Amino acid sequence: MALQVLIMAAGKGTRMRSAKPKVLHRLAGRPLLDHVLDATGALAPERVVVVTGHEAAQVETHVGPRAVCVRQQPQLGTGHAVREASPALADTADVTLVLNGDTPLIQAATARALVAASGGSRLALLTVELADPTGYGRILRDAAGGITGIVEQKDASPAQRQIREVYTGMMAAPTALLKRWVAALTNDNAQGEYYLTDVVALAVADGVPVVAAPAASETEVLGVNSPAQLAELERRLQARQAAALMEAGVRLADPARFDLRGTLVCGTDVDIDVGCVFEGRVELADGVAIGPYCVLRNVRIGAGTQVAAYTHMDGAQVGADARIGPYARLRPGAELADEVHIGNFVEVKNSRLARGAKANHLAYLGDATVGERSNFGAGSITANYDGVNKHRTEIGADVLVGSNCVLVAPIKLGDGATVGGGSTLTRPAPAGQLTLTRAPQTSFAHWKRPQKKT
Ligand code: UD1
Ligand code: CA
Repeated sequence: MALQVLIMAAGKGTRMRSAKPKVLHRLAGRPLLDHVLDATGALAPERVVVVTGHEAAQVETHVGPRAVCVRQQPQLGTGHAVREASPALADTADVTLVLNGDTPLIQAATARALVAASGGSRLALLTVELADPTGYGRILRDAAGGITGIVEQKDASPAQRQIREVYTGMMAAPTALLKRWVAALTNDNAQGEYYLTDVVALAVADGVPVVAAPAASETEVLGVNSPAQLAELERRLQARQAAALMEAGVRLADPARFDLRGTLVCGTDVDIDVGCVFEGRVELADGVAIGPYCVLRNVRIGAGTQVAAYTHMDGAQVGADARIGPYARLRPGAELADEVHIGNFVEVKNSRLARGAKANHLAYLGDATVGERSNFGAGSITANYDGVNKHRTEIGADVLVGSNCVLVAPIKLGDGATVGGGSTLTRPAPAGQLTLTRAPQTSFAHWKRPQKKT
């Protein structure tokens, strides 16, 4: 059965009180609309149509080649949105699935069940029972239990407002019939809008069966209309992701204090302490432990490595059995081999550290290579930038760089070189030798401190 998906995303989202179109606000790091497009993609539809309107150009640019965009100008209601999109709907598709750009947690399995409920011959409505149905369209049924229509909150009688079975805003319909029904809609209602929900009564009049497909959970049909609802959905989505990770054996110190904005791939026996944020694609091998309040974006970490509190990593790779942090910062291009130690207030950017290399305190390594077992002292830095260009620092194996050294790049330190503390090097340090640029130490035996004038 050929399927196409129509995503309504033209509404203004007034209650967000934002210059940004509602469907581009982010949930778990991705725009709301992308969540819907992802769920849609899993159904392999022959066509996806997005209805844009408010800030249409911005939304269309964001959608790109993922869907056909149709502009609805002005926005006269959900029925009008589908009517405006009708010319873009492929007649070859037996079923058209209507989704909302602001209902991001919809699962592919639920959408699939809704399509199956339509089967290309019925009008299927995704419904849910709510303890508080305020604001939603209520499902009307006859004495035999057959669905006869949907009444919007603003048009509902007090008795109808008691109904707790509501329409979620998502439906699946035979394409040709849907087009015919939306062409026949009128806007004779409390809001003066063309309601998509009125197609239910038209289907009943046409003798087309109308069926309800209940949503698997209330969470997946929740919409975003305000910052508070956005935050609520964020927590629910994070809870869902945390549950899946724990199910796979990942130990989260507190699933309520865990944020994943992307993909997290974990081996066995991974421990994650509270308050961590994972972005992009993060891979943690077996036995990795992440301390509290770390931020990891696009990172790969090898087995047994421990990352201590407040560490920030972006675009970095770390080998096995390394120790990072607390308070370490690994920037893009940091490649740390096995058993590397990076301590507090050390920044590493675009640098490779070989096995067992250490920079334990207060240091900067930028555009550098560091050989095996070398130790980079506290307060030392690579002066990699001359104000115009970046230059490389090459440090061999078993090098000891003392404290407070400045290595002015481009520069090479040979294997086994030792650099005395406080040195500023502008020329190579030969292998195996002690190099220092320190001024000789002098003491003045007869020097007196100045005295306060009386
Ligand atoms: C709609 C349903 C209601 C249902 C509720 C679920 C109608 C008439 N009512 O109400 O029964 O319970 O969803 O959330 O359909 N949109 C457009 N163009 C428009 C108007 C809206 O594209 O002219 C889009 C919006 O961007 C949004 C979606 O359609 O993504 C739903 O619109 P909204 O105004 O939120 O509908 P509700 O009043 O919530
Ligand atoms: Ca809504």
